[in-house]
Parts: sequence; structure tokens; C-alpha cells
Amino acid sequence: MSISTIDLIKSRRNIKAFKSDPVEEEALISWLEAASFAPNHRCNEPWELLRIGPETRAKLKHKSDFWGAPVVIALLSKPGATGLERDENVMAAACFAQNFLLAAHEAGVGTFWSSIGGLPHNRELLGVEEGYEVIGVFGIGYPIEVPAAKPRTPIKEKIKTLP
Ligand SMILES: Cc1cc2nc3c(=O)[nH]c(=O)nc-3n(C[C@H](O)[C@H](O)[C@H](O)COP(=O)(O)O)c2cc1C
Repeated sequence: MSISTIDLIKSRRNIKAFKSDPVEEEALISWLEAASFAPNHRCNEPWELLRIGPETRAKLKHKSDFWGAPVVIALLSKPGATGLERDENVMAAACFAQNFLLAAHEAGVGTFWSSIGGLPHNRELLGVEEGYEVIGVFGIGYPIEVPAAKPRTPIKEKIKTLP
């Protein structure tokens, strides 16, 4: 029996210890393809991906080298003609990210989300053009250890009802 969507969402964790075992290329592409069914305004598909090779990875000097993940991918969102369009592109790309994380997780593959790609020198290193946003740099691989979930605020405390 497959895992329910709710259990899948709740059991995904940010992974900080990966095995060196490779991730199957076809599976990786299938998760990215699934991710592209994310909501996106005007169907503009504002996401772009950079596969980070060993040379670039070393130059990024991530303090834990993405916790040993065998695959590292950066996710960018495209520029917008207006501030609103730019924000919408970031939102859609974040939806893409979550779809991807969940698709990988369903297959038993863990992900680590790093924000280092947004730092000016790393943007330059990755060749990110002006107007693009770096949503994240993701380590992807089989987890050695899955941490316990950090508690969340009861959602009812986050809901305000308007008249
Ligand atoms: C936009 C964004 C940036 C993040 N950047 C980092 C980061 O630089 N380093 C890190 O350890 N985790 C980063 N995270 C992951 C969060 O720390 C993690 O999701 C949070 O601690 C909750 O843990 P969980 O994902 O296991 O539920 C980032 C998450 C998001 C959404």
C-alpha cells in the first residue's frame, strides 16, 4: 500500500547525512518532471535548474559539502517584468521545489535545502544572471539518518477568520 499524501508531507525531512550511493538518473528526471506540474501563473514555467558538477561544487565551499549528497542541483526562478511577476515566479518555483522534494521522498531519496546560492559571490560562481532568484541549492541522495520532525505551531493558531 502506498503512503498517503498527508503522511508523505509530514514525514519529509531536511537531510543532513547522505550515503554516497548514486541516485538513478531516470528517477531524478521523473521527479523533476513531476515537479513541473506545480501551479504557475500564466503557465510561464519560471523554474530553471543547474546541475552542479564536482568542480563547481568544490568552489561553492559549502561548509558540510551538502552533507555528502551524491547529487547537487540549484533551482532558479526567472526574472519578472514587474515586482509582482518576480514574486509570482519565486512562489511558483517554490511550489516546484516542494513537489520535487516530495517526489524524491516518496522514492526513499532525501533532500537538503541550502540557501547558499543566494549569496552574491555564489550567484556569480553559478553564473546566475541578473533578475534571476536562486530558490535553493539542493543536496539529493539516500539518507543515512532522518531527523525527527521539529514541532509545528498548531495550525488553528495561524488562522484568522475575517467577517
Ligand atoms: C528557503 C529555504 C532556505 C533554506 N536554507 C537552509 C540552509 O541554508 N541550511 C539548512 O540547513 N536548511 C535550510 N533550509 C531547510 C530548513 O532549515 C528546514 O526545512 C527546517 O529546519 C524544517 O525542517 P524539515 O524540513 O526537516 O521539516 C531552508 C529551507 C527553505 C524553505
